[in-house]
Amino acid sequence: MNQDELKKQVGDEAVKYIQDGMIVGLGTGSTVSCLIDSLGEKIRQKHLHITCVTTSKNTSKHAKEQNIKLIPLDDVDHIDLTIDGADEISADFQGIKGGGGSLLWEKIVANISDNYIWIVDESKMSNKIGEHFKLPVEVVPFGSKQLFRRFTKLGYKPTWRMDSKGEHRFHTDSDNYIIDLHMGAIEHPHHLADSLIRTVGVIEQGLFLDRVNAVIVGHDSGPEYMQARP
Ligand code: A5P
Repeated sequence: MNQDELKKQVGDEAVKYIQDGMIVGLGTGSTVSCLIDSLGEKIRQKHLHITCVTTSKNTSKHAKEQNIKLIPLDDVDHIDLTIDGADEISADFQGIKGGGGSLLWEKIVANISDNYIWIVDESKMSNKIGEHFKLPVEVVPFGSKQLFRRFTKLGYKPTWRMDSKGEHRFHTDSDNYIIDLHMGAIEHPHHLADSLIRTVGVIEQGLFLDRVNAVIVGHDSGPEYMQARP
């Protein structure tokens, strides 16, 4: 199976965990796109009452195309289940997210979710986070070159996230910039997360630590459900 087929496999599998009456958080990215298609189909076929909260403008647009009922995050008092993609997941289920630039909204939604599942093809699994994927950091545009210089001095090898044409800086849905850090395997992710989030000008960073309850991984042999924490 190619990567797209594995994404569809886990998208279809994850829909099985969505029950009638649930409030569901929808993540962002190409794997979640497969989930949205599959969920739209399930809602139509089974006449389900599912209400969703989204983590990006792109996801809202896609969900609306599938006639999925959306509700603003501020109008819910909880989320039963959020399903999202991830960019890299370590053997101990720590993750890097933000490859699509939606880390801030994704983390806000994850924070109020009773159950939080990541869906990924097997290429996203690694030994230590940072081995294969950059670490995205969302920053306030004002003074962001100062932050960039600071990250360079710290040896974090920063690059600016650019738009799809590579001409302008990428803007997040909250109109911030993303600086990607290319630091290699991250030995002390909690320490790094603390130090980044205490840096003035940093809005959020892409380390999602001790958060996910389960991961569904796509393989040629079929989807694998891995329990991360209760
Ligand atoms: C969005 O900002 C990310 O956190 C995505 O969840 C992540 O990049 C996974 O995207 P794909 O499913 O497209 O790989």
